[in-house]
Amino acid sequence: MESIYIEGGTRLVGEVGIQGSKNAALPILAATMLIRGKTVLHRIPRITDITHMINLLQSVGCVTEYEDGTLIVDATDINRISFPRKDVDCMRSSILLLAPMLHRMEEVLLHYPGGCVIGERPVDMHIRAMKELGAVFIEEEVLIHAKAEKLLACDISLPIASVGVTENIVMAAVLAEGTTRIHYAAREPEISELCLFLQSAGARIKGIGNGELVIEGVENLHETEYTIVSDRIVAGTYLFSAIGCGGEVTLLDAPVSHMEKVIETGRALGAEIEAYEAGQTVTVRADGNIKSIPFLETGVYPGFPTDLQSCLIALLAKADGISVVAERIFENRFRIVEELMRMGAKIIQDDGQVIIWGVGGLFGTELKARELRGGAALICAGLMAQGDSALTGVSYIRRGYEDIVGDLSALGASIRMEEI
Ligand code: EPU
Repeated sequence: MESIYIEGGTRLVGEVGIQGSKNAALPILAATMLIRGKTVLHRIPRITDITHMINLLQSVGCVTEYEDGTLIVDATDINRISFPRKDVDCMRSSILLLAPMLHRMEEVLLHYPGGCVIGERPVDMHIRAMKELGAVFIEEEVLIHAKAEKLLACDISLPIASVGVTENIVMAAVLAEGTTRIHYAAREPEISELCLFLQSAGARIKGIGNGELVIEGVENLHETEYTIVSDRIVAGTYLFSAIGCGGEVTLLDAPVSHMEKVIETGRALGAEIEAYEAGQTVTVRADGNIKSIPFLETGVYPGFPTDLQSCLIALLAKADGISVVAERIFENRFRIVEELMRMGAKIIQDDGQVIIWGVGGLFGTELKARELRGGAALICAGLMAQGDSALTGVSYIRRGYEDIVGDLSALGASIRMEEI
């Protein structure tokens, strides 16, 4: 088991490159199955969620080759309809295989991805959407079992602007007969990336980046090559870490146009931030003093991302006044509160929101990550705190961050990983 050791209180200074986006890469990997041939993908991040997705693709017949961040997926021959449970169970985005499998095999058997610590996260909307596109679901207790001789276009209105459901519908619609309209589609940049990738393979999609997508089905998609965009959540994690610790940090290859709300929030926290969209750089200067934020809620894009909510709470715990943060996407995403309180934070949870009395400073202690983004936020808290922290649960963080320890240590943080 690995542990991360942090000696807090060091300013962060320097430049750090941002990895390819996990949440853009995962649906694009699922979508490679729609192409009867080779797809070349650059800037695939080296993280465990991607390893699981590659295992899933291989398990049904895709042949993959990975070198230096470039992944080649050959989906010429898909020959199985079910996936190994170990890779499905640990990753909710396995549900994104539904539409591609229905196109390629006309049938799919998938274990329910199940709940997870950040909330219930049901898959009812995925199933309803595939039904509207013509799939039939066979009742099975632990398995999702679906069949579709042919997926047909339709008009779909989503009750919640779900990222994954929008992605599944897009993948179903690009090869379905007719024109599909998705009303109240989610607008996250990762959905636009999926659409742009599919367009590069010959798909016809209009309204990319809007809440209304119009997709005209085509007969086939062709081989293509695509580069994964930078990860806005990793960029936000490093930006907030610099604000929490103080210092001057430049993010290179930053997805500036996807970070508007995060940059605005960074400024509200008291940092000076310069963002250059053309150069894809963000420079943050901060003195380590953090301003409270009277009220902020997470929201669907372009709102404040739920994936950075934990990091924000860690910073506000150290601020100079009272802040309130409401979580609007996942009902149970305040798992780090108890850890922060053991570091001296004063926080109460109340009906989907937290009230934070900034205490001016946190102190280091033993910490345990229980999920990916909460784990990254605890690293951020450890860096800001006075004294030493030791963090377990590192495997959660490896799901989404290629080398958070190496990156922060290159910025001057006193942080190291050890096998225990
Ligand atoms: N929902 C349902 N039924 C469904 C699907 C979703 O009720 O069938 C609910 C969810 O429970 C949630 C809301 O709809 O309350 C929105 O969830 P959404 O479907 O948008 O989330 P997702 O597609 O499962 C993606 C990201 C998450 C990110 C959310 C919100 C990927 C692989 N995952 O999840 O990323 O938090 O969108 O932006 O893209 C992470 O990277 O750590 C992460 C959790």
